[in-house]
Amino acid sequence: MLHSQENIQQLKLYYQQTLTNQLVTAVLILDQNLNIRYANPSAEALLVKSFHKLFGNSFELIFKNTSITKQRLQQLLVTGQEFTDSDIIIEFGEKHRFTAEITVSAVVFNREPHILLEFKQIDLQKRISLEVFQQQQWIAARDLIKGLAHEIKNPLGGLRGAAQLLSKELTQEQQEYTDMIIEQADRLRNLVDRLLGPNQLPQLENQNIHSVLEKVLQVVNFSHNQRIKLVRDYDPSIPTVECDQEKIQQAVLNIVNNAIQAIGNDNKITLKTRIASNKTINGVRVKLAVQISIIDDGPGIPNKIQDTLFYPMVSGRKNGTGLGLSIAQTLINQQQGKLYCHSHPGHTEFVILLPLQQVTLTQETK
Ligand SMILES: Nc1ncnc2c1ncn2[C@@H]1O[C@H](COP(=O)(O)OP(=O)(O)O)[C@@H](O)[C@H]1O
Ligand SMILES: [Mg+2]
Repeated sequence: MLHSQENIQQLKLYYQQTLTNQLVTAVLILDQNLNIRYANPSAEALLVKSFHKLFGNSFELIFKNTSITKQRLQQLLVTGQEFTDSDIIIEFGEKHRFTAEITVSAVVFNREPHILLEFKQIDLQKRISLEVFQQQQWIAARDLIKGLAHEIKNPLGGLRGAAQLLSKELTQEQQEYTDMIIEQADRLRNLVDRLLGPNQLPQLENQNIHSVLEKVLQVVNFSHNQRIKLVRDYDPSIPTVECDQEKIQQAVLNIVNNAIQAIGNDNKITLKTRIASNKTINGVRVKLAVQISIIDDGPGIPNKIQDTLFYPMVSGRKNGTGLGLSIAQTLINQQQGKLYCHSHPGHTEFVILLPLQQVTLTQETK
């Protein structure tokens, strides 16, 4: 179809006028006094505030305590030099908090200088790339430690056997020395076995996930003297799931024990179950999964170990072995599940996903 020049102009105007309403990117426009003059629907949705609520407010309503400062914005009005900040954390109200990437530039409306803020929530991308990174690191560390553990274990068996033979030739007094060699060799083998991790294949059976969790809570109640506030937030409609109940119990127990060690008297631990849909578990697309969350409102995972949390021998505690989470990860992976964590002070959540229905990528594209 041919368009006249006039038509084209009209079309262009139409698209320009409606464009910001259709954008996925959130857009805010500030006047020279740094007050909000416009918010597009994406900004309204992301900030959970209507245009009318935002209009006329200072930019600080949204960007307080971020790198978007009054000084920088005023400088932008003078120099016109746009800037982009990634990873700014926007927090407002009690519950709203997200990470965004933001581009700030100068624009002119009605012959007056304004500021255009374009931003996008990036939490999801960040989480996915962190998960992939953690998984790769975990596999590399596990393989390294497995290799090392085998190298130690083999000569250790020889050493122990030789000491046993030798002890038969010795007087009782001298046997003290060989006994010590045997005892220390056993201790080392024990450590090496734990480093090698669980080696039995999972015994899959249909289980009610809530009875599995209740067993863990029973063990917790027996083994801790302090009173621990435990909250159950179960979805009773969850069907039975095929899993190895002992392995799930062990994994959950390791996670709950960590939480107990981290929290204070006023804190609580919540066990939450839900059905999750459309998840990707180790590269496989899963339509339905059971999601078990172990949440505490304690101090959070120390920053310096967040990226390597699931490595064997990474611990933030003085007497920790750093094996609890690495073992939990192995146990969950063995049954095609996934274990991950997000944590900031006041909220630490370990999530176990167990597939209910699997759809592999190849099947899906057929
Ligand atoms: N719920 C939690 N809150 C705070 N820190 C935690 C939590 N869970 C785990 N951690 C941190 O992760 C570390 C690793 O845990 P883990 O692998 O079980 O080893 P360990 O408990 O022997 O240190 C802990 O030492 C602790 O610093
Ligand atoms: Mg532990």
